[in-house]
Amino acid sequence: MNAAMADLRKEVLACNRCNLAEKRNHVIFGEGIDNAGILIIGEAPGRDEDIEGRPFVGLSGQLLDKILAACGFTRSQHVFISNIVKCRPPENRVPTPQEAAVCMPWLLKQIELVDPKILILLGATALKYMMGPEHRITRERGNWQTWQNRLVMPVYHPAALLRDPSLKQDTWEDYKKVVFKYRELVNPEHYSAHV
Ligand code: URA
Ligand code: URA
Repeated sequence: MNAAMADLRKEVLACNRCNLAEKRNHVIFGEGIDNAGILIIGEAPGRDEDIEGRPFVGLSGQLLDKILAACGFTRSQHVFISNIVKCRPPENRVPTPQEAAVCMPWLLKQIELVDPKILILLGATALKYMMGPEHRITRERGNWQTWQNRLVMPVYHPAALLRDPSLKQDTWEDYKKVVFKYRELVNPEHYSAHV
């Protein structure tokens, strides 16, 4: 981790800006490569993440890792993974607009430091809090958008794929678009066995 990211991490780990701080075991800062071409944004840490202190380590995370692997991506070499909020909401409820707003400066700073070419938004919550409340994941997934001069690909959240496996086929098409764009913008030599 570079010095700027380490400094930010220290600050985020000490955050008490909202009520989610009271019941957390860990602040989940996020992880991956500091200068990743792709920054992945989820919703919020769940139970497993709160216990371990790392993002996407439960069932959703295992599925996410499988999808990334099929794209030839790993957490340590290609992506940085973060969330809209860094602490677990009770009962895994969706973060409130206020919680999301209070936590947003941390995510914005991460985006600035990582400086990714591509943002992947996982699910409805990431889409709405990044792009606006009128956005709809079912309508917009798989379609490139832009956010402050960066390309954005909204995709279904892995938890949605676990609930409804029939969504996996469309989702794979969405991730293929990300691989093609990654070759275009980041590394033309990027290898994936499946794309
Ligand atoms: N779901 C999310 O949105 N984020 C995580 O870190 C884990 C599960
Ligand atoms: N609903 C969600 O919250 N997320 C999805 O990815 C799909 C439906």
